Amino acid sequence: FGAAQVLVASNRGPVSYAVADDGSLRSKRGGGGLVSGLSAIGSGSDSLWVCSALSDGDREAVRRGVAVDGVRMLDIPADVHADAYNGVANSVLWFVHHMLYQTPLEPVFDGSFRSQWASYETYNRAFAEALAEEAAEGAAVLVQDYHLTLVPGMLRELRPDLRIGHFSHTPWAPPEYFAMLPDDIARQVLRGMLGADRLGFLTRRWADAFTACCERFAGGLGDTRIGVHGLGADADFLRARSHEADVDERMAGLREEIGEGRRTIVRVDRTELSKNIVRGLLAYRQLLDDRPEWRERVVHVAFAYPSRQDLAVYRDYTAEVQRVAEEINERYGTPGWRPVVLHVKDDFARSLAAYRLADVALVNPIRDGMNLVAKEVPVVSDGGCALVLSQEAGAHEELGEDAITVNPYDVVQTAEALHEALSMRPEDRTERSKRLAAAATALPPARWFLDQLEALRG
Ligand code: G6P
Repeated sequence: FGAAQVLVASNRGPVSYAVADDGSLRSKRGGGGLVSGLSAIGSGSDSLWVCSALSDGDREAVRRGVAVDGVRMLDIPADVHADAYNGVANSVLWFVHHMLYQTPLEPVFDGSFRSQWASYETYNRAFAEALAEEAAEGAAVLVQDYHLTLVPGMLRELRPDLRIGHFSHTPWAPPEYFAMLPDDIARQVLRGMLGADRLGFLTRRWADAFTACCERFAGGLGDTRIGVHGLGADADFLRARSHEADVDERMAGLREEIGEGRRTIVRVDRTELSKNIVRGLLAYRQLLDDRPEWRERVVHVAFAYPSRQDLAVYRDYTAEVQRVAEEINERYGTPGWRPVVLHVKDDFARSLAAYRLADVALVNPIRDGMNLVAKEVPVVSDGGCALVLSQEAGAHEELGEDAITVNPYDVVQTAEALHEALSMRPEDRTERSKRLAAAATALPPARWFLDQLEALRG
């Protein structure tokens, strides 16, 4: 047995390394919902986070035996990792749960998919073996997300003594869509997860969809319990971080790009197919057409940060976002007014600066497990913001009442929602923003994590 009493496993870990010019290794703490939620694991000697080595720096760190306390990176062969991560996790499981396929042509589960699936099994086994090695007797293991669906079942066989949990940060597909997966693979995914004592989801809707899939493909849930934990925003961290000097600096820069006295519609996303960035831009264009009174008086600040660029569909989507933004600027822009300010280089301080300046936050995903941006902007915005929110975001379950709800496919309705948000009376906006912030912070990341741990041990 190992020494760790609490273990977390996820593909992307809390830290990444880069090789500096002088050959030394620099470590950088990662961001994002998963990392902020899980950092409550702490760095005590009895906890361990197992993750993949993702960058060249990470692999070099593993080779040199360099490690941040409490983190173990697995150097899985690059081709195995690419098949598992790009091929199966991000091109198939992510697509299934976000219902992203254009079904006349996709998906095609052929022989090459089967060989990627074999890599996915190998990759999951590497995690299960590392966890089995590191865990103390009776330890709690919290496995994260669609990359690692087979780990609970594999680990259960290696170490029946462990308390095993799994948490899904994505939506879960309804059975009629999940049924697109080859039967044996659908069953393998579900049985893999049902190896856990307890499964966590972000909303009741995703938990119910999972249960329905198990009824159809796996003969029910068996002994596995299901819990819902709606990860909230980290108010203390966000409020403090958003008032540091680098954020103030970015605010000055953004103010210049926006111009005096204009309203600001903000969105911040990974350039991710499910985030629906292009339709968001089209809705903004529709607003400028339908409500010309807003021309010159509003700017759409859109941050679309690079994501999963190994996949051609993501590269194409990134290009499309840029094309549509440019088209709007060419068609409507005037010498003193740039209607869309699009930034594609990841910059957390600038994201917070945009949050602070936001009059309106636009969060219109096609489907989203939760969406933390919807929760973060009301917490950070200086003057309170109106939230235009997709009915398909997990966050809608908690924020729907004080948001302006949209169907993500309906560009005309989204344009009208933007108009309504921009026109909201300041006192209404402040009131609603306060209620949004309260709902958004109901379950802070540290509590979210500890609740799961307690439920797993209880
Ligand atoms: C989603 C997933 C996470 C993932 C993140 C970033 O939030 O649920 O597991 O880490 O996207 O995606 P990436 O592929 O860059 O890790």
